[in-house]
Amino acid sequence: MYLGIDLGTSGVKLLLIDDAQSIVAHAAVAIDVSNPEYGWSEQAPADWVRATDEAASALVRSHSKEMAAVRGIGLSGQMHGATLLDENDQVLRPCILWNDVRSHQEANALNTNPDFQTISGNIVFPGFTAPKLVWCKHNEPGLFDKVATVLLPKDYLRLWLTGERVSEMSDASGTSWLDVGRREWSETLLAASGMSIDQMPRLVEGTRVSGQLRSELASRWGMSSSVVVAGGAGDNAASACGLGTVEPGRAFASLGTSGVLFVSNESFKPNAASAVHAFCHALPDRWHQMGVILSATDSLNWFAGVVEESAATLTAKLGDTIKEPVSQIFLPYLSGERTPHNDAHIRGVFTGLTTSTSREHMTQAVLDGVSFAFLDNLKVLQAAGSDVERVTAVGGGSQSIYWLQSLATIINRPVDVLQDGEFGAAFGAARLGLIAAENADPDAVCTAAPVARTIEPDQSLVEAYSDAYGRYQALYPAIHALSTAV
Ligand code: XUL
Repeated sequence: MYLGIDLGTSGVKLLLIDDAQSIVAHAAVAIDVSNPEYGWSEQAPADWVRATDEAASALVRSHSKEMAAVRGIGLSGQMHGATLLDENDQVLRPCILWNDVRSHQEANALNTNPDFQTISGNIVFPGFTAPKLVWCKHNEPGLFDKVATVLLPKDYLRLWLTGERVSEMSDASGTSWLDVGRREWSETLLAASGMSIDQMPRLVEGTRVSGQLRSELASRWGMSSSVVVAGGAGDNAASACGLGTVEPGRAFASLGTSGVLFVSNESFKPNAASAVHAFCHALPDRWHQMGVILSATDSLNWFAGVVEESAATLTAKLGDTIKEPVSQIFLPYLSGERTPHNDAHIRGVFTGLTTSTSREHMTQAVLDGVSFAFLDNLKVLQAAGSDVERVTAVGGGSQSIYWLQSLATIINRPVDVLQDGEFGAAFGAARLGLIAAENADPDAVCTAAPVARTIEPDQSLVEAYSDAYGRYQALYPAIHALSTAV
């Protein structure tokens, strides 16, 4: 048995798989996010530990025999968060999360130093870890001076699980301190943000052993004293391991709250200028690129709230067959945008409204607007040297066949839908636990998830949607000048 632990933003999910990778049991416990000021987003690391312990205890109650047979644990987690510890490993302040934008000025300042793009291969986004530490230096100097270690969220869980300060390549890629091509901390980038290498955890590959489960926890959960904890991965790389998006060229599109277009690469292919993320994959000698759309299902859920309908009802009303593009265009920049614009100030718009515009027209415009944002992302991945032949769709939005047809036709690529439900990042984490415990071949373990059906692009509408995409693309520069942060 192998246990995957995914520390998400809204909760912790635990998933138990057997030697044949069948799902045996799962448990989840919610965690709160606090927003003490506009743009701030924080969590108490003690809540992660409590939630994980509660979920593990629930599994012990329901599946004690299986928990006793666990040989390896893998971790996945929300990326970029700054967990600050003093010299006794005590938490100094609530963790500043990935979606906290308080450090946008600090990020801008770091971006004036070309070393960040050259060495880390990425723009320093406000959500990344380095600018958060610079913010602390400026705003909480007494606390900053006490920082002995900075850990990413799942690595704090690892410290509790194993007593070891360790991170792994995929999550470390999102700190702005990693030399992503060489897979090692960059002393140059650390120094440029007032930090030093002794504040960093040791690095392992996601597939390797990072430590052993502490005996106190092993006896509490009825496990053996030799359970290993794998390096694991940031949540997107962990999902990729779960979906089998590990072979170079394989891709997935996640229609979640935010949207992600992820492709696996055989080499490091940065293209920071277009706001592509180029990170290490969880597997050794492999990298990945990723475009991030900040509001994917968030756009549909926002519109559903405005018209007081459920998102499922709105999409159901469009039917199951893609229609001609509508004349309304929606830009999904409700919370700004990461890829390709890296623009925290841009906001969403509808254009082309008339007295005969209906709720259905606007729903279609919202779905198509998000699909156009995926095409923007595909284009920047292509510009960064990665073409994608087909994508696997995951996330809540992939329940809508209409949306998948819109996506397939707009990106003009087949979209695969999975046969079984998804267990996402927790499943990928469990696979990494298996690989580390058994010293297994990562490619043999991370096989592609079985496909239930493939949605092909509707060739009769590809050209009409390509014209509509032209109108969509022309809007960003037009509204850019008018947008101000709220
Ligand atoms: C990736 C990113 C998100 C978080 C959220 O760059 O910001 O996917 O990991 O979980």
